Amino acid sequence: MKFTATASAHPNIAFIKYWGNRDDNPHLPANSSLSMNLEGLTTTTTVCFDERLKSDVLILNKEGITGEGFQRVHKFLNHIRQLASKSTYAQLESVNNFPTGAGLASSASAYAALALAATRALGLELTEKELSRLARRGSGSACRSVPAGFVEWQAGEDDSDSYAFSIASPEHWGLVDCIALVNRSHKKFSSWQGHRLAATSPLQSARVKDCQRRLRLCKEAILEKDFKKFAEVVELDSNLLHAVMMSSQPALLYWEPATIEIMKAVIYWRETGLAVCYTLDAGPNVHVICRSSLKDETKERLLNLRGVKDVIAAKPGGGVKLIE
Ligand code: PMV
Repeated sequence: MKFTATASAHPNIAFIKYWGNRDDNPHLPANSSLSMNLEGLTTTTTVCFDERLKSDVLILNKEGITGEGFQRVHKFLNHIRQLASKSTYAQLESVNNFPTGAGLASSASAYAALALAATRALGLELTEKELSRLARRGSGSACRSVPAGFVEWQAGEDDSDSYAFSIASPEHWGLVDCIALVNRSHKKFSSWQGHRLAATSPLQSARVKDCQRRLRLCKEAILEKDFKKFAEVVELDSNLLHAVMMSSQPALLYWEPATIEIMKAVIYWRETGLAVCYTLDAGPNVHVICRSSLKDETKERLLNLRGVKDVIAAKPGGGVKLIE
């Protein structure tokens, strides 16, 4: 017997970042976070539970995956098998239409799509909240790719209340994330490893302590569509994240020379009248956020900077969905 389902999900860009875990199992974050799903960037995953398989099989962008990446997926599937009281192994085929592992949060869309496809294939019908809690176990930020649009992940006290929910629909505010690609290669340190180092930075506790204040400001800015307020808190939060990364032991330095050039250009453009701001995840690429009316101008300016190889523009996206 075979049980199959296919689901797709978008990655998300965090405006208030998640970094560091309070608990690695079952994956509770050090702080709450806030993000926007990215339309047009999509992971599509087909899961097929097949009684003839002798182990799980993972195929990502048409290549077989082994090692740490496979072990994480296998552990995640074990949890789903336990929920469904099944023991059948599965073949997973996942395709990203954007660069994998270059700070574009491919693990977020990957685990959101996998959570939905695998549970449906086994006949489980989870609510959005249950699906978000489940995706969180694969990759923290994946819980934010489950609901649509602008999304808050409340850190919560335990497994039952650590999940993400939508604070505004994708149509609420026409923001665009212009992602300036500096380097398409796979990053050296995965965020998975980075979370474990967060506590070695003396700055992490200060970042976490002030997080609820930043989250409140960012949420207000989104709900009020106040770009000035939004830009200030988003850049502060990104700078705090990278201050923690750089002061971890060992230090995590994700920036390339072009990364700094872009950040400085964005600040200058804003000072001279173009409403843009930057934010960076665990990688050298810079997410430059603007209103949709400024998308073409922002893209063009970014492409004129040395070191920018390409720009991918994404507007607010929907939540995870079942395809078949
Ligand atoms: O979900 P993970 O383990 O890939 O961690 C995501 C970490 C950041 O992208 C740097 C921040 C965030 O909140 O997305």
